[in-house]
Amino acid sequence: MAIQHTVAVLGPGGTGGLLAALLSRSGHRVVCLAQDRTADTLRRTGITVRSKQFGEFTAPVEADTELREPVDACLITVKHTALGAALTRIPPAALGDALVVPLLNGVEHPAALRARYRPDRVAPAVIRVESTRLAPGLIEHGSPFTEVDLAGDAVPRDRLDALAATLTAAGTSARTVGDETAALWAKMAFLAPFALLTTRYGLPLGEARTRHRDELRALVAETAAVSRACGAPVDPAGALARYDTFPPTTKSSMQRDAEAGRPLELDAIGGALLRAAERHGVPAPVTARLVRELRDAGH
Ligand SMILES: NC(=O)c1ccc[n+]([C@@H]2O[C@H](COP(=O)([O-])OP(=O)(O)OC[C@H]3O[C@@H](n4cnc5c(N)ncnc54)[C@H](OP(=O)(O)O)[C@@H]3O)[C@@H](O)[C@H]2O)c1
Repeated sequence: MAIQHTVAVLGPGGTGGLLAALLSRSGHRVVCLAQDRTADTLRRTGITVRSKQFGEFTAPVEADTELREPVDACLITVKHTALGAALTRIPPAALGDALVVPLLNGVEHPAALRARYRPDRVAPAVIRVESTRLAPGLIEHGSPFTEVDLAGDAVPRDRLDALAATLTAAGTSARTVGDETAALWAKMAFLAPFALLTTRYGLPLGEARTRHRDELRALVAETAAVSRACGAPVDPAGALARYDTFPPTTKSSMQRDAEAGRPLELDAIGGALLRAAERHGVPAPVTARLVRELRDAGH
């Protein structure tokens, strides 16, 4: 029989709730770390997932407001805007030897986590999925795929491989990738132009990519130049071509957050990109303008 692991999930929302439910369903002990009311709900109802990939199912989870015991891994699945407050739920001393696995978009959070927790246990991951928290304990998983790339240059490879195997056995496609910088910047290079353009103009991808083609091209070129300066391989032509393969109605999650009046991960995406550009002396005027216009609009 497969080994049962104990996995904590900080912020059981769209991504975290889906992974928590999948891990529980495949026989692992899952402890969700959440705000008081959400923890209460999860203890009573478990997590229900409605998924194009996995069907509909409900899985029981434990829930607490704080980590109080050592675990094998702790997935960090809050948004950037909540990261500082949420991390107070994970006292470094409680973690033991656990892997700390942030699945946030962005490139700056791994350093913050390494300053707080054991640097050789922080394993940043990239997740490709579309999953939404409709209510506490109710997750709608819209994409027919759930892909996780696990990285962490200083983390023992066997620990990453073991977690990838656990996540894969639970239903995702998870793998260990060698280069953390490449993994995080590959996601950033795709996400930043798409998120900034669609949110700035309030248009779905189809209209944004045709009506604002020159800006999209410039954003892709700027993001690629910054990525390259940070040491990541880049493929701007490939990125541009990829946007054209998405259905015209596609919206970015930043745009959906803006429409719902939620705080945006603007600083973690656009802000971080501009800080990296400045550090490396790479010009990024179109990115800077869009970020400024979004901030001026109150985001
Ligand atoms: N969703 C996707 O499809 C997707 C895909 C790729 C990458 N990502 C990235 O993954 C990250 C998480 O996004 P998400 O969409 O999963 O976010 P989300 O659905 O908003 O979930 C975040 C969860 O964090 C919880 N939370 C907020 N403040 C907290 C605190 N102080 N303590 C404990 N929990 C707290 C919320 O709890 P409540 O339920 O109590 O409000 C919520 O359940 C983001 O960086 C996003 O860019 C998301």
